[in-house]
Amino acid sequence: MATTLARAADGTETATHAARIEHVSKSFPGPAGQQLVLDDITLDVAPGEFVTLLGASGCGKSTLLNLVAGLDRPSAGEISTGGRPALMFQEHALFPWLTAGKNIELALKLRGVPKPERRAKTEELLELVRLKGAYGKRVHELSGGMRQRVALARALAQESKLLLMDEPFAALDAITRDVLHDELTRIWRETQLSVLFVTHNVREAVRLAERVVLLSSRPGRIAREWRVDIPQPRRIEDTAVAELSVEITEELRGEIRRHGQH
Ligand SMILES: Nc1ncnc2c1ncn2[C@@H]1O[C@H](COP(=O)(O)OP(=O)(O)OP(=O)(O)O)[C@@H](O)[C@H]1O
Ligand SMILES: [Mg+2]
Repeated sequence: MATTLARAADGTETATHAARIEHVSKSFPGPAGQQLVLDDITLDVAPGEFVTLLGASGCGKSTLLNLVAGLDRPSAGEISTGGRPALMFQEHALFPWLTAGKNIELALKLRGVPKPERRAKTEELLELVRLKGAYGKRVHELSGGMRQRVALARALAQESKLLLMDEPFAALDAITRDVLHDELTRIWRETQLSVLFVTHNVREAVRLAERVVLLSSRPGRIAREWRVDIPQPRRIEDTAVAELSVEITEELRGEIRRHGQH
């Protein structure tokens, strides 16, 4: 793996990036031989940066995120991250037989946090995601939005520098999603996490990110990227968010037309 550290003249080391994706390609075996899904992707996520990866369904967003997570290996190229990233998916993937609190504590246990410290740390994390008092709640007692908050708290429990999110709010209603956007922005700013967030929702991408990266389809390549300078906290209905979303949607439509999808 390539290094993610730069050594200054005084010997101190600082992270130069939270994730570095260099010339990454990925193929899967298909009925007509190898199918190229990702083609020569090069992308850095800076420390503390929030990047959204946007693209049509099937363009390879989840594949790329899985590669960054280390769940699969690229066919070509290199990926480096400064430590193991935390993950959050569309499905909350909480253990249903554990309470909200115990789901989070498990992540702390896996990280090696000593038992006496886990309860207090869990309460802190529940408070951070505004679920104070939910420690003893079973997963089935929680709403979809609350489950995603627990999943977020569990991801944060890993204390990774990089959070990988794959359409984590796609199954939620618009209002709940809106609230969670605000929470995620607040938590990102408080914790200075780096986030790589996958979505096919253009407004969501612009609402959240400092940089939006558009992937083309078949194979997935980086088509274009936009820096989003609109000040945070933003609202999804802000004029500036809407205007940039229109521009990006046009490009996305062009990509989809080029590849005959709808
Ligand atoms: N393990 C696998 N084996 C074979 N093909 C795969 C595998 N994983 C993904 N693919 C293929 O790679 C392509 C990209 O899939 P991927 O799940 O990354 O898309 P996506 O951009 O996340 O789509 P969506 O927005 O619908 O989630 C698809 O054609 C998919 O069928
Ligand atoms: Mg996907």
